[in-house]
This record gives sequence, C-alpha cells and structure tokens, in this order.
Amino acid sequence: MHEIDAKSLKKAKNLFESGDIDKIEAGTVRGLQQIHEYLFGGLYDFAGEIRDKNISKGGFAFANSLYLTEVLAKIEQMPEATFDDIVAKYVEMNIAHPFMEGNGRATRIWLDLVLKKNLHKVVDWQKVDKELYLQAMERSPVNDLEIRTLLGSNLTDDVDNRKVIFKGIEQSYYYEGYDKPHSS
Ligand SMILES: Nc1ncnc2c1ncn2[C@@H]1O[C@H](COP(=O)(O)OP(=O)(O)OP(=O)(O)O)[C@@H](O)[C@H]1O
Ligand SMILES: [Mg+2]
Repeated sequence: MHEIDAKSLKKAKNLFESGDIDKIEAGTVRGLQQIHEYLFGGLYDFAGEIRDKNISKGGFAFANSLYLTEVLAKIEQMPEATFDDIVAKYVEMNIAHPFMEGNGRATRIWLDLVLKKNLHKVVDWQKVDKELYLQAMERSPVNDLEIRTLLGSNLTDDVDNRKVIFKGIEQSYYYEGYDKPHSS
C-alpha cells in the first residue's frame, strides 16, 4: 500500500474510533465533503473539494464538471425512505464522482451513514466480494438491480460493532487495489 493510502486508511478508522462520524451530516453533499476531507486532509490538496476537471473510468465518463454543482444539489434532494431509494441515491452519487480521487472510499462511508440513519443498518462490506461489487457498480449507471441485490443481501443491523466497521473499511480500501491486511 502506498504511504498516502496507508495514512488514509488510519484516518478512516479514526473517523469511527473517535466518534467523529456521528458529527457528519447524513445524505448531504456537505456530509460527503466532510468525509472526504477527513480521509484525505493533509494527503491531497483537494481534500473535501469538488473537482473542476472531467474524469472517467473504464470508458465511463462521470458527471461533467461544468454541471457538477447542480447535479449534486439534485442528488442531495433524492429520498432516503427505503433501501431502494438509498441505493438509487448512492448510484447517482457514484455517477457524480465529485472528487479527483478517493470517490469510492468516501462514498461507501457516506452510503453507510444514510443506511444507518434511515434503516438502522449498514453494509457488511467484508462479505461483499470485490469482483462482484466492481462489476455491479460498473453496471449501475444503466441498471441498479445487481448492486441493489448484492448490497441488500449483505446488510447487518450490528451497526456499532467495531469489528464489522473496521473489516468493512479494510475491505473498502481493498476494492480500490490496496492489500487486504491479514487477521486482527
Ligand atoms: N466504470 C465504472 N462505472 C461506474 N462506476 C465505477 C466504475 N468503475 C468504478 N466505479 C465505482 O467507483 C468507485 C471508485 O472508483 P475510482 O477508482 O474511479 O474512484 P476513485 O476516486 O479513484 O476512488 P478511490 O480512490 O476510493 O479508489 C468504485 O469503487 C466503484 O464503486
Ligand atoms: Mg482511486
């Protein structure tokens, strides 16, 4: 793991360990920026800042930076009443990809905050297979059935379990190509 990512992983764990996670707004653009700032502050000069350049991955162009502010304001207004609502909102936020780097990791924490607030559940990420997850996310701009099914079958109501949270964060960093630490 590169130094920046190892440091960011520590910060992500500290976000929960310190209880600072409870101070972050659920489901808002500001809340996502707060998470990003927490994970990457001091590591990237754009921590917490909405990008002003266009980015793409695997041939998919994320939201055009010219319209990003408006797009984000619309996404913030999306409902969170049901699990399906929340997945739809998460999928749109992924399409927005508001930061230059670190979108995957910040947005999964944001998703869990919304799930916790509205449904008293979180995703048990350690049970969500990396390849299936990435395939489902690539598919999600066209059809969100796969990601809905995958996440829906791996929810837990053990929302304050330290082990669930820490293993989940490690899994989230592993999705982005970083080594999964052994044991503990
Ligand atoms: N082709 C794609 N289409 C839509 N979503 C994708 C695609 N590829 C990846 N994703 C989603 O975007 C997330 C982050 O991918 P990406 O590497 O583009 O972002 P990032 O900003 O580098 O985030 P991080 O630094 O946390 O990896 C993935 O975990 C997945 O959820
Ligand atoms: Mg990345």
